[in-house]
Amino acid sequence: MDYLLSEVIMRANRYLTELPTRRVSPAPDTVAGLKRLDVPLQDHPINPATVLAELDDVGSSATVASAGNRYFGFVTGGALPPTMAANMLAAVWDQNAVLETASPVASFIEEVCRKWLVSVLRLPPQTAIGFATGATMANFTGLAAARHALLQKQGWDVESRGLFGAPAIEVIVGEEVHVSVLKALSMLGLGRDRVVRIPVDDQGRMRAESFPPIAGPTIICTQAGNVNTGAFDPAEEICLKAKEAGAWVHVDGAFGLWAAAAPKKSALAKGVENADSWATDAHKWLNVPYDSGLIFVREARHLLAAMSSHAAYLIEGEKREPSHYVPEMSRRARGIEVWAALRSLGTTGLSDLIERCCGFAARFAEGLQNEGIQVLNDVVLNQVLVKFGLK
Ligand SMILES: Cc1ncc(COP(=O)(O)O)c(C=O)c1O
Repeated sequence: MDYLLSEVIMRANRYLTELPTRRVSPAPDTVAGLKRLDVPLQDHPINPATVLAELDDVGSSATVASAGNRYFGFVTGGALPPTMAANMLAAVWDQNAVLETASPVASFIEEVCRKWLVSVLRLPPQTAIGFATGATMANFTGLAAARHALLQKQGWDVESRGLFGAPAIEVIVGEEVHVSVLKALSMLGLGRDRVVRIPVDDQGRMRAESFPPIAGPTIICTQAGNVNTGAFDPAEEICLKAKEAGAWVHVDGAFGLWAAAAPKKSALAKGVENADSWATDAHKWLNVPYDSGLIFVREARHLLAAMSSHAAYLIEGEKREPSHYVPEMSRRARGIEVWAALRSLGTTGLSDLIERCCGFAARFAEGLQNEGIQVLNDVVLNQVLVKFGLK
């Protein structure tokens, strides 16, 4: 084990040292070289150091350098040094974050993160949290809580009875809803094509004045941070309409929700705190290693009703049972890196990180525009949408 650990540290160090200067996308020959991993599976165990060497020698050069400082694709986070280190320690701990009895540390840390996160993201203090794989599953989890709450109000227990014969739920989305929300709706039996689509403006923001009258059980899916433009739906107006009609507002804030933690950007998220559920990613702007998404639900009882399951052998106590807040039972203790990120950054470190990133986006856009390249969006956050002379 000693040798293996020192080998992995040496190899990890080499990878990180090369990261800032190596090519971002892997060279085609290194990708083609991956076939060296496709060997006939041998009969006998082999030396773990050989396995590690094969992975590193063949695999490392076929990675995308998305953890490096010259990667600008999609909305992909890197890993802060303390989150990477915490991730390695967590791998050694190998905790099963299913129940408090299985991992007191995982359970406790999730609760600490809950308090810190609702404070920095300016959500209601009692808001519940679940640690999911990413924003797609966070959207799924929040929408499951919404489905529960709305049908419970109609006297229908969806967790026991399913959706066959249940009162219909109307789902309202913006014309530029993220595909992950549609995927979540399809997995929840709410359908991706039966949604009501609200027209959007040129930045992809829902036009609040185009909402139909809201009646009956309704979920409104809003966005804090459009994936192309970074724009925010008008949360304040939408939440007001929803409250009057008893509708549930879900916010897909995969990256944009973090604007609430940055004084110079928090105006974008105005009114978001009036929603009922919020999904975001920690593997994007918080820069923890993949995979790590977060779901927040204003009233814990709806999340618990939608997600918890019980069996005699699964010993429950008074403390937080991590699996009662997300779809998975056994899973890794993703709260560990979230705790490490927040602990190391502090509140001003976090807001600086967000504001610095937005500052770079503005500089990026300005530089491109100065070179005659067309920037298509209002650069309000971290997204820069450019057009390179294509018709
Ligand atoms: C607005 C929005 N929602 C949801 C997602 C899905 O996030 P994940 O890939 O972490 O599931 C993304 C990803 O970029 C996004 O930008």
